[in-house]
Amino acid sequence: MAAGIDDIAIYIPRLFVDARDFAKARGMDPDKLQRGLGVSKMAIVDTNQDPACMAANACLRLMERNKISPKDVGRLYVATESSLDESKAMNSYVIGMLEQIYGDGSFEHCGGIECKFACVSGSYALYDNSNWIRAGEAEGKYAIVVVSDIAKYDLGSSGEYTQGAGAVAMLLNDNPRIMTFDPKITSTSIKNEYDFYRPFGKETPIVHGQYSNLLYMIQIKKALMTYKEKALSSGLIKLNEGETILDYIDFVNMHLPYSNMGKKALAYLLRHEWRNLPRWKKIIDKMGMQEPIPKDPRGTIESVLADEEFMQKDHQFTKIFTMTEEFQEIYDSKLASSLIASRMVGNLYTASLYMGFRSCLEFEFQKGTDLEEKRFGFGSYGSGSSAMVFSGRIMPTYKEMVRDMNLESEIGNRIKISLEEYEEIHENKRGPTENILDSKKEFVLVEIENKPEMRGQRTYVFRE
Ligand code: CAA
Repeated sequence: MAAGIDDIAIYIPRLFVDARDFAKARGMDPDKLQRGLGVSKMAIVDTNQDPACMAANACLRLMERNKISPKDVGRLYVATESSLDESKAMNSYVIGMLEQIYGDGSFEHCGGIECKFACVSGSYALYDNSNWIRAGEAEGKYAIVVVSDIAKYDLGSSGEYTQGAGAVAMLLNDNPRIMTFDPKITSTSIKNEYDFYRPFGKETPIVHGQYSNLLYMIQIKKALMTYKEKALSSGLIKLNEGETILDYIDFVNMHLPYSNMGKKALAYLLRHEWRNLPRWKKIIDKMGMQEPIPKDPRGTIESVLADEEFMQKDHQFTKIFTMTEEFQEIYDSKLASSLIASRMVGNLYTASLYMGFRSCLEFEFQKGTDLEEKRFGFGSYGSGSSAMVFSGRIMPTYKEMVRDMNLESEIGNRIKISLEEYEEIHENKRGPTENILDSKKEFVLVEIENKPEMRGQRTYVFRE
């Protein structure tokens, strides 16, 4: 039985911080954010928004536009790394909100859990729910997977300019109108790491930025190697002399903590895949530079990062490589459209990869590209750390789903906030009711209980 994505809905908070204002306030060159990292705007939650209400808002949009009622939904999974409680799953908050619309107990039959593995957990949730469908357990019902996060870093830290917030809800079934996942090739890698983590009680993560960049690429490369073995042994992809697996992936979607991470990762993977092919010699000749090798090629990530001479040369090599027409051709045709949304909203952690997928669908459709039967490859990464690589094919029916996608109108009228307002929200100096926006047709948080016996209980309402 097939399984895949039938439809996608998004919810992005309307408040944003402009990268230029931000750079000015922190004494940085705005070009570092806009050109260096690919960040133009960072979506920021209002005081009356949290990851649960963003998830519920995305779910409601998904259900309303597909005219689905709770009885059609067998599973509702929420993947997040902005958990609200150590025990109570975010699903229960989401179901509580949806039942304000659909009636008390309307989701009673529906199963689901909150999933955690940093930014990769949404991909595990998609995979597990696809297998629930493939196993025939769904009995005609849909699964909904919602990925929702607030990417929040310490004020003044290097992570602060890679923040953002938002939710993506995906409808899964056995006859999907957008994309069917390729079966039996989903591949993972996993390793105990401390590149980025958030200890209990801490609102912001502890981050080793450059370490996390390199680890992300190494882990995805490992998962890609397993994907390659599976795709070749299952006959899904057949390679001729001088070809690479990436030749058979029409569009590449990467986890996007910031938009340019997609470009960085693509360059890394292409270097790895092309290195032993005849085309590489031609590229190297044109570049006029040999690929640098670290002093200790079998060393650790720390030793590679500490090898300053290698790092500097490797940086230069990557820069020149990304300017070659061979790289540019792949970048423009396979990756660029998936990066547009990330520039506009920032990091969404678990939701970043899927916002990138949606971005690719929307902007390729606008360009008039025919996506039917095209293979999309996904590189999902979660710190801590695990990567997942998988793929899917676009269904002939995708146009009816993609035609109306419009990121700007779906976000709505965006409001730029000042750095003072941003810092007040960031430092939790305003209570839930001191919101900036006047929300309509969405769930908002109105109260968090303080009484000891009810501490942490959250009340949400739907604003008409
Ligand atoms: N004009 C133009 N470009 C400039 C510039 C300028 N004035 N100054 C710097 N740049 C460029 C740099 O050359 C660099 O680009 P390349 O990598 O292509 O060379 C880019 O801007 C960034 O510069 P730095 O690497 O010096 O930036 P940094 O060290 O200040 O911070 C970061 C970058 C490490 C990503 C940091 O923002 C961070 O720690 N972010 C949070 C962690 C993160 O996102 N890690 C990503 C992998 S882990 C993951 O993916 C999980 C997750 O979601 C968090």
